[in-house]
Amino acid sequence: MRDLYNMIFKRKSIRKFDKKLSISDEELIKIQEEFGKVSSLIGDIKTEFKIVSNDETTSKRGEYSILFYSEDKDNYLLNAGYMMEQVDLFLTEMNIGACWYGMAKAKDIEKDGLEFVIMFSIGKCNEDDFRNDIKEFKRKDISVILKGDKYDDVIKNAGLAPSACNSQPWRILTSENSIEVFKKDKMKSFIPGTNLSFYNNIDMGIFLCFLELVLNSKGISFDRNIINGSKVSDGLVKICEYKIN
Ligand SMILES: Cc1cc2nc3c(=O)[nH]c(=O)nc-3n(C[C@H](O)[C@H](O)[C@H](O)COP(=O)(O)O)c2cc1C
Repeated sequence: MRDLYNMIFKRKSIRKFDKKLSISDEELIKIQEEFGKVSSLIGDIKTEFKIVSNDETTSKRGEYSILFYSEDKDNYLLNAGYMMEQVDLFLTEMNIGACWYGMAKAKDIEKDGLEFVIMFSIGKCNEDDFRNDIKEFKRKDISVILKGDKYDDVIKNAGLAPSACNSQPWRILTSENSIEVFKKDKMKSFIPGTNLSFYNNIDMGIFLCFLELVLNSKGISFDRNIINGSKVSDGLVKICEYKIN
């Protein structure tokens, strides 16, 4: 994955845009090129990004929408979160504001046999529209998300990841040689039942993207093992285990 570590401190959901600014043709080309460099979490899932004008979606925010299409296979939502978040971060690097937009829909719900999963609204911003102080983040206290006394600085930064309704469904267990990542089952939220698990699975992929950027930035090498199936124990579903080398 490309090094986008510094962008995790700068990014934020941008919902309002200065109408005087606009995304240039060169920037649109650069975005298209960057799509081709995004790393997947699960290699054998076919995916596609598409950048479209807002008339092709229900969004009225910003100038364009970025749509994500995928095959419907095991863990495809995790993969969607992981891949789309890299796009969120490289847009931040280009001073293009984005907001994950689960409530909006694409008019084309299928593309080349792939199904529409989720989208962003995007628009051009100024550097100072983004965050410049970690205090601007509203996130759960580390004691809520982490059990174990190892890697707390890693988990603190990975926990800056965005999530639907800021629900932050990730729960982490660490030891000297491992970081286990769980999803909290049945989060309290105003998102209705099935939708909640749809969004929370995407959230978990976003968290894995952040976690790996933080580990890479610290030169901590790891082997990732994505867990298939969804066995719930103590209200937690194990999603992934990182073996620290
Ligand atoms: C999967 C997903 C879906 C989201 N859907 C919406 C949405 O429909 N409308 C919206 O305004 N924000 C949406 N958001 C943005 C979150 O509300 C936002 O990420 C969270 O409150 C944290 O704030 P931050 O992104 O500024 O750090 C979504 C975020 C994620 C990850």
